[in-house]
Amino acid sequence: MRFKDKVVIVTGATGGIGSKAVEAFLKEGASVVASDLDAEKLNDLDRELRCSDRMITLAGDITKGATHNAIVDLAVESFGGLDVALNNAGISHNVVRLPLIEDELARRVIDVDLMAVFLAMKAQLPVMAKQYKEAERTGSIINVASAAGLVAAPLMSVYSAAKHGVIGLTKSAAAEYAKHGIRINSICPAFTKTAMVESFFETSDNNREQATKSLTKGMPMGRMGEISEIISGILFAADPSNSFMTGHSIAIDGGLTAI
Ligand SMILES: NC(=O)c1ccc[n+]([C@@H]2O[C@H](COP(=O)([O-])OP(=O)(O)OC[C@H]3O[C@@H](n4cnc5c(N)ncnc54)[C@H](O)[C@@H]3O)[C@@H](O)[C@H]2O)c1
Repeated sequence: MRFKDKVVIVTGATGGIGSKAVEAFLKEGASVVASDLDAEKLNDLDRELRCSDRMITLAGDITKGATHNAIVDLAVESFGGLDVALNNAGISHNVVRLPLIEDELARRVIDVDLMAVFLAMKAQLPVMAKQYKEAERTGSIINVASAAGLVAAPLMSVYSAAKHGVIGLTKSAAAEYAKHGIRINSICPAFTKTAMVESFFETSDNNREQATKSLTKGMPMGRMGEISEIISGILFAADPSNSFMTGHSIAIDGGLTAI
């Protein structure tokens, strides 16, 4: 029960990583505000996971600042504060060379994957800083970046640029708030079995076996990640006992960025 009595926000809460993160935080004793664009799936998640009254859902678009303000307000009003924010929602684009990415799609990827992390922290940081100032209540923010935010991702240039940006935001905000009781780290997964990777398969010219081989060929472990392996890293970063780690980018990538 590492997160007993802690209040946690999760965005992208109905997705592959988000839904398992919600489940894990609830299991570890937290109260959770789960948010996603997809209201219907959010209702399904609510039915599936409802743990007494420790979970509330809010449907909204994370590219709007108002959504983040509403999520934070809900955490404070319903559960009495905010301890952990997992800024996880994200999208990718088709796997093509840079000139073939539509301008509108590129802007949407930057908006969802980068601007939304800025807007999320803009809503979360003042509340966490106030809690620390008034009661020494510490906070932890985990931004889900990607291995594509650490190294080049050929054919995924705009996604890679947005995720590099998330790491820059994470490091800078971590330095700004290190003395205000808030730790900010990013998690950098490589290919993990979720709907996002399913969409790569759907747009690939290869069959599933060939596509998996080509995705994993640069990975020393030679396989995709399991969602549970990403969740372990998220819980590690969020864990209040992990109190000296901030501004870090944790690669969970089967060794991809080690070589
Ligand atoms: N799966 C991977 O291989 C992988 C690798 C590296 C990084 N990531 C990152 O992990 C995070 C989670 O992705 P996932 O793999 O679980 O994918 P997923 O597609 O299963 O989940 C993404 C979730 O984000 C939500 N979302 C998308 N746009 C939104 C918006 N505008 N407002 C609110 N919610 C929105 C979707 O509804 C979905 O539930 C993303 O940031 C992704 O970039 C994933």
